[in-house]
Amino acid sequence: MSHKLDVAKLVQDLTLEEKAGLCSGLDFWHTKAVERLGIPSVMVSDGPHGLRKQDENPDHMGVGESVQAIGFPTASAMACSFDRDLLFSVGEALGEECITEDLAVLLGPGINMKRSPICGRNFEYYSEDPLVAGELGAAFVNGVQQHGVGTSLKHFAANNQEWHRMSISAEIDERTLREIYLSAFETVVKKAQPWTVMCSYNRINGTYSSDNSWLLNDVLRDEWGFEGLVMTDWGAMNDRVTALKAGLDLEMPSSHGETDKQIVAAVKDGSLSEDVLDQAVTRILTLVDKYLVHKKESTYDKEIHHLLAKKTAEESAVLLKNDGILPLKKTQKVAFIGAFAETPRIQGGGSSHINCYRIESALDTANNVAYAQGFRTDIDETDPALLEEAIRTAKDAEVAVIFAGLPDAFESEGFDRQHLNMPDCQNELIDKICEVQPNTVVVLHSGSPVVMPWLPKVKAVLDMYLSGQASGGAAVRLLYGEVSPSGKLAESFPLRLEDNPSYLNFPGTRQEVKYQEGIFIGYRYYDKKKMEVLFPFGYGLSYTSFAYDHLQVNATEATDQDTILVSVDVTNTGQMAGAEIVQLYVQNPKGEEIRPEKELRKFAKVYLEPGETKTVTMELNDRAFSYYHIGIHDWYAESGEYQILIGASSRDIRLRQNIQITSTKEIPFIAGETTTCEDVELFAKDTAPLDHMLRISGFAENTNGVENDSMGAGTDELMHNMFSGTPLHSILSFSGEELTYEDIQETIRKLNEQ
Ligand code: BGC
Repeated sequence: MSHKLDVAKLVQDLTLEEKAGLCSGLDFWHTKAVERLGIPSVMVSDGPHGLRKQDENPDHMGVGESVQAIGFPTASAMACSFDRDLLFSVGEALGEECITEDLAVLLGPGINMKRSPICGRNFEYYSEDPLVAGELGAAFVNGVQQHGVGTSLKHFAANNQEWHRMSISAEIDERTLREIYLSAFETVVKKAQPWTVMCSYNRINGTYSSDNSWLLNDVLRDEWGFEGLVMTDWGAMNDRVTALKAGLDLEMPSSHGETDKQIVAAVKDGSLSEDVLDQAVTRILTLVDKYLVHKKESTYDKEIHHLLAKKTAEESAVLLKNDGILPLKKTQKVAFIGAFAETPRIQGGGSSHINCYRIESALDTANNVAYAQGFRTDIDETDPALLEEAIRTAKDAEVAVIFAGLPDAFESEGFDRQHLNMPDCQNELIDKICEVQPNTVVVLHSGSPVVMPWLPKVKAVLDMYLSGQASGGAAVRLLYGEVSPSGKLAESFPLRLEDNPSYLNFPGTRQEVKYQEGIFIGYRYYDKKKMEVLFPFGYGLSYTSFAYDHLQVNATEATDQDTILVSVDVTNTGQMAGAEIVQLYVQNPKGEEIRPEKELRKFAKVYLEPGETKTVTMELNDRAFSYYHIGIHDWYAESGEYQILIGASSRDIRLRQNIQITSTKEIPFIAGETTTCEDVELFAKDTAPLDHMLRISGFAENTNGVENDSMGAGTDELMHNMFSGTPLHSILSFSGEELTYEDIQETIRKLNEQ
């Protein structure tokens, strides 16, 4: 790649003050320029599912009007497509828009996990499953960056709620962090090298993400190989000098020179090495250079992008219920009810809010449908006149389609939802319509799960999520069967909020939130507890049907070094063309560690004409069988009998096959005073040191073959269990006088020498 800036030379030529200055923003959206050396200022903008580029004179809060842009479906919608190619295309389109608008970095994607279904910002996040978020996030980043525009992978890490998001400490154990909250970031960094990563506002186990050297230097850069720059979320800087040392390069937005002065002072008094500053400046200038290299005059066709937004909405919608009423027929007399038929809710509030180029509603698209507004969206109160009109309109039709969901005030950045309910006025409307119209369909608009008390009464539910500016057009095409629904849920819909595993610890206290459910979020929890859910992870219906057969796994036994090939034939057995999302879960064995029943390890989306069969092949490596072992601080595929499951959802497993995995990694055995005799017998290479001690102590004989003593029946087993469960230091209490504390220490030492 040719360069526009000689970064190494510039770092030498810049003064200390200029270098410090480059480490914070010029204003809300720009980096600083150094005109005397030809370093320009570059602009960044939200993100993630459309551009929110503020006009020429940004205000200091970043809330002013933004340029018109295309509103794509939000992340929680797009994730339901499970379609890497589609996410890549959306990324590409956004990259084109960024180039046209002269933006260096698009602030997204947001790939935080959906720990609770009521996190206010869930609409901006992909999934409760790190594989889905990681794979789709990587495809999106690759799409944007294809055009020579950067992305900012956010919010790193553990920003899983809005309550006190700028200060709360997420208290998370090491294994949970690795398996659930860091894993998607790892995937995106390794597969797509985002130009930038945005650190989260919150603290993790007490340390602000901006100050967290373990997070930014050790894990992100040294372990995963991240090459770009780390910027703060807007206002997420805690301690500027500590942050620089921790690997945080760019503070956003402007610090008005305050933290620049701190950097200069720290270099002067020796508490900050100038090399650390130079490294941050190098990363910032490298970003500017990349931008300059790719910068060009460009335009994009808004109508073409609108069509892509529509296709994305179609591929992402999830058909949750269909008692044979959908698709609708053109000849049917249909009534559209509900304000969202006229003005669809297409996006969430906050920094991702787009000034949409145009909005296509269902009413704009459909021909010959009756319409009644039914409810108000500005207040949760039934309007009797609107209700009456809706009932009349529904009664007069053969089918009523109610466009319902969460209004803006229920779901936004900045606050969490209080519950899973839809507005009462809408629930009442649906109930009342069902009383007069047996053929009722609900089209949902919300960024995250809701409960549906009316579910048994309606014939079909189509969940559009927040599906962007072409939402209405996409909904109509789906309703009338011009395209078959093919989305599947990237998150579980619980029956009640109280069922959610984070319920007892969400959103925590004013200071901290304890992730006590550990790795058991979403389906990992509901499956383990064998709980009913409203709709399971990976679930979604179609107008056609699919058969799965010929599962082939290329080995019945393998080591953690092997690549395993899994293939399965999927056939469209229905009358209509459609796409199926094939899910591969691995069922874990009962082993040493507590693990989820099964975990999604691969997925693929296949498009099939009626009668067509395709073979889907997926590749598994050791990570598919691994958990994060805190003893070795690494991934570990424990030996054991696993099952490969092929499912149409997490609760609809169609095919399965066993595979024996043998680990080649050794877990070092470290004995201590509290190590039990059983653990020594199971894990020590050689039990001789313990055997020897037991012989001199007489403890082994004492616990063998004792008859008729005061402990009663089953004594042999009881004594054996007592022996097994005895920690090394306690042997002293059950031994003759021959044994000393030093003997125990000596035994431990010998066991650890092996
Ligand atoms: C949000 C970020 C966003 C930034 C700039 C912050 O409040 O958390 O996601 O990119 O503002 O608007």
